[in-house]
Amino acid sequence: MHDFQYKNGELCCEDVPVRTIAQRVGTPFYVYSATTLASHFRAFDRAFGGVPHLICFAVKSNPSSALLHLLGKEGSGADIVSGGELFRALRAGIDPKKIVYAGVGKRRDEIEYALKMDILMFNVESGEELQAIDRAAGDMRTRARVALRINPNIDAKTHPYISTGLKQNKFGIAIEQALEYYQMAKGLPHVDVVGIHQHIGSQITEVQPFVDALVKTTAFVKELRAAKINIQYINIGGGLGITYKDETPPLPQELAASVRPILADCGCTIVMEPGRAIVGNAGILVTSVLYHKEAEQKKFLIVDAGMNDLIRPSLYEAYHDIRPVVQQPAAETAVADVVGPICESGDFLAKDREMPMVKQGELLAVMGAGAYGYSMSSNYNSRPRVPEILVRGGEYFVIHERETYNDLVKGEKLPRWLD
Ligand code: LLP
Repeated sequence: MHDFQYKNGELCCEDVPVRTIAQRVGTPFYVYSATTLASHFRAFDRAFGGVPHLICFAVKSNPSSALLHLLGKEGSGADIVSGGELFRALRAGIDPKKIVYAGVGKRRDEIEYALKMDILMFNVESGEELQAIDRAAGDMRTRARVALRINPNIDAKTHPYISTGLKQNKFGIAIEQALEYYQMAKGLPHVDVVGIHQHIGSQITEVQPFVDALVKTTAFVKELRAAKINIQYINIGGGLGITYKDETPPLPQELAASVRPILADCGCTIVMEPGRAIVGNAGILVTSVLYHKEAEQKKFLIVDAGMNDLIRPSLYEAYHDIRPVVQQPAAETAVADVVGPICESGDFLAKDREMPMVKQGELLAVMGAGAYGYSMSSNYNSRPRVPEILVRGGEYFVIHERETYNDLVKGEKLPRWLD
């Protein structure tokens, strides 16, 4: 469900024709729908209504300040994985008591920053990290609330690069060893054990992996209670998938209906960390057709957005629907690769895709680009990052300006001997 629909043959974001924005800001650009974002957040909130819960938006999926502000106002907390994400979340007014901090490689300065801000909890991923947090808290004469991220060894049945809950992944502590680590945490002088965390992967399109993981986790929570380790928060992670092509992922209420019974008698606050399910279908990338090219065995549609703007197709062979911004019912179609201007063969937005043969200068919309789109973009090939626009109703606002060539060299210096 999203608010990108054709009206009179023109793709609109809510009530704003995408073409109007293109005329104003040029291409490429990202555009997000405020209404879609808010409604996705509320869908999670409603789904877990009536039980103590906290939704911590996964900042990594889209760290835009305006989006974080919007979600913060809706009541969202934040799932962060770096000092930079903590900075962004706080700056957007998100209450530190709603911030949870995951990631296998937290640095000492990042731990200190999070302790100073008194975030809700660290999701700890190893024994050494636990000790580092305890030392930092001791040096700062404070205490750290922690959950241990356990790895339940569940196959999330998603792309191997975005699967995190299997034994061979670097994430979390194997469930078989977790009791040992909880006991270690309990013995540490500056740490309060408050929760348990799991996140088994991303773009998960069935409820079963969530159910299987939570059955293991809740059984383990009982073991912990028997060992007098009092768990107050169960963090079920993020990972709920969206429709890119023909997937039929469960809706938040379907996920909730399946997991709520498992969590019913645990007496815990349920924490969750959705990213993609909130923002994925709330954003698109808009690009212009530059050239057509016909090689011996292939047709190419060369557009002005590349893998530096949206790396998902190159990195995961991810499918993103690509639609003309102005519908062209009579246009011929052909099978083509939609490629960008980057000097890499891996620079494509679509491969062997049946596409309407839109003319030079026409606009294309790359759908479902709100999550892990701008956030994974880069300046590769010295291409300035593209602007981001937020629409609400009939209004649009540039929430992030297009970078300039000067932005590209910001912070660069010459040594004296080159002057
Ligand atoms: N919590 C933790 C601890 C995570 O590592 C992640 C995502 C999330 C929550 C949010 O997951 P989501 O609800 O968005 O699936 N770049 C990849 C996705 C990487 C996901 C990394 N972790 C992609 O473009 O598909």
